[in-house]
Amino acid sequence: MKARDLTPAARAARRRAYAPYSGFRVGAALRAGGRVFEGANVENASYGLTVCAERAAVLAAVLAGRRTLESLAVASGTVPPTPPCGMCLQTLAEFAGPGLPVTLAGARGSRVETTLGALLPRAFGAAQLGGARPAKGRP
Ligand code: THU
Repeated sequence: MKARDLTPAARAARRRAYAPYSGFRVGAALRAGGRVFEGANVENASYGLTVCAERAAVLAAVLAGRRTLESLAVASGTVPPTPPCGMCLQTLAEFAGPGLPVTLAGARGSRVETTLGALLPRAFGAAQLGGARPAKGRP
């Protein structure tokens, strides 16, 4: 299933967002292991506890045993369409490679077709933990 085919599921998830503080509703739909996982942003009166749509969808997939993400659509109400925030990109990069197809769907039919690698080049990952060494010399 192509990323853009996930757009209706992302829009449906967006309608279930809980965003009383920002009023900014986002939905996400992820394909993983033959299933579709949805997410929407869930805010909190303690603002920093907010969970974004994309991370909610990733967590749903991982908790269902799907650790390999195949495609993603994000639905927002903006023009141009909203991209995932940095924290969500890093979370996606834990379970998908740079080739992950991503569709960003916004208001008035606006759409961007991209990839995780284009949105987050040079992602931090396990490779850094395993091989990279801190530079010697001055702190
Ligand atoms: N938000 C998402 O859910 N995904 C994004 O990609 C960007 C931001 C949410 C978080 C918060 O509830 C609201 O949008 C405004 O930042």
